[in-house]
Amino acid sequence: MMAGIWAVIPAAGRGTRFGGEVPKQYLRVGGQLLLEHTLAALFAHDAVLGAVLAISANDPDWPGWTSFAGRPLLTCTGGATRAESVLAGLNALPDDVRADDFVLVHDAARPNLALADLAQLLERGRNDPVGAILAAPVRDTLKRAGDDGGIDGTEPRERLWRAFTPQLFRRLHLQRALEGAAGAGIEVTDEAMAMERQGLRPLLIEGAEDNFKITTPADLARFEFVLAQRGR
Ligand code: C5P
Repeated sequence: MMAGIWAVIPAAGRGTRFGGEVPKQYLRVGGQLLLEHTLAALFAHDAVLGAVLAISANDPDWPGWTSFAGRPLLTCTGGATRAESVLAGLNALPDDVRADDFVLVHDAARPNLALADLAQLLERGRNDPVGAILAAPVRDTLKRAGDDGGIDGTEPRERLWRAFTPQLFRRLHLQRALEGAAGAGIEVTDEAMAMERQGLRPLLIEGAEDNFKITTPADLARFEFVLAQRGR
């Protein structure tokens, strides 16, 4: 059997880009909270032993769950940035998660993670000395905009990838890397970026393109469509 692994889920965003009163992870879609769909996708893999959710202080929307799919759910208070929330989550992992154990970090707002992709990440990523992330190659032509909105040029896209989650790194290593970035005043937008700053080269693992993050109402409509397709 595959070794077990814990997950850290940053879920302390207030969803300002989305607008509205309820943070996106607590929106209802297909009769469940968006967060429930995300947890279900993650816990679909038997190796996932439990998760720590970083939530907002005095979060009025948090349903107070203590377990999911028969496995423990812990919570901690997140921070002002995603990276701070992930750091808080790492600190709140149970003591029996060792310093060199791999952990998964997965966005609360990324509900459409395929089990096959998670399995790939766990199998191949845990053989990498640094760790790995799910990602997909850029398919569109990329333009660099000038200040006036005109096109300054076209960027080669051959080696460009879109970074998704889950991302897989060792507990203490990731903690040190995130603390290092914070200490240098650099806001990292994913975990891999914190590792890259240390000269390390996490592995890119190609996953499905539709492992999207819910950011806009259009993304939510897209996920509703995905759910409707699943139900057929
Ligand atoms: O804001 P963005 O879409 O990048 O958020 C990605 C994930 O990070 C979301 O699940 C969000 O709840 C979480 N987050 C957080 N703490 C913050 C900001 C975002 O846990 N301060």
